[in-house]
Amino acid sequence: MSHLIAPSVLAADFANLQRDVEMINDSEADWFHIDVMDGMFVPNISFGIPVIKAIKKHAKKPMDVHLMIVDPDRYIKDFKEAGADILTVHYETCTHLHRTIQAIKAEGMQAGVVLNPHTPIAVLEDIILDLDLVLLMSVNPGFGGQSFIENTYKKVIQLKDLIEKSGSKALIEIDGGVNDKNAPMLVAAGADVLVAGSFVFKSENPTETIARLKSI
Ligand code: DX5
Ligand code: ZN
Repeated sequence: MSHLIAPSVLAADFANLQRDVEMINDSEADWFHIDVMDGMFVPNISFGIPVIKAIKKHAKKPMDVHLMIVDPDRYIKDFKEAGADILTVHYETCTHLHRTIQAIKAEGMQAGVVLNPHTPIAVLEDIILDLDLVLLMSVNPGFGGQSFIENTYKKVIQLKDLIEKSGSKALIEIDGGVNDKNAPMLVAAGADVLVAGSFVFKSENPTETIARLKSI
């Protein structure tokens, strides 16, 4: 399988959201990456359920919803109803992670765990077989446009090793500071899905930028 590209809607023009959603529909992108921030787990507030519903009306590709919120269990059903196909929760926010993952799956969504840059891969050892996806943060979550943390390559290799040894089918997704410089090395290390926000939306031709990331 070639790697997937998930443009981050956080970097879109919110006053022209339908236009940017349609750009993603018509591009070689595979998923919509949707960042939900609560101003508590991360020091920023993005958007919530009404905006996700509005995106869903036009989106023709799977919606990958990345929750950066405390106690995400409270909203699993709501995100399903809003249109999430894939729901990822931070390891750092889930006391009963196994229960949370089962609850996401019970709603018929694919379930993923996100690790902050400082959280070691080893914490996934006893949950990896339950996961459809692991999202490695390559910046500290909260903002688009930050620079890529180089230690991520090592974590991709460690995660790939854990997935292979355990027989898990989880995909490896990378989020934060992804561009055409680090993307080839990420894919070579074993990344399956690349999220890209600023690199896509701040470029002159986002459709071409997506195609370039896809062709790596
Ligand atoms: C950061 C978000 C990212 C962000 C990526 O907390 O999770 O998805 O939108 O943006 P770039 O690609 O600009 O780092
Ligand atoms: Zn994200």
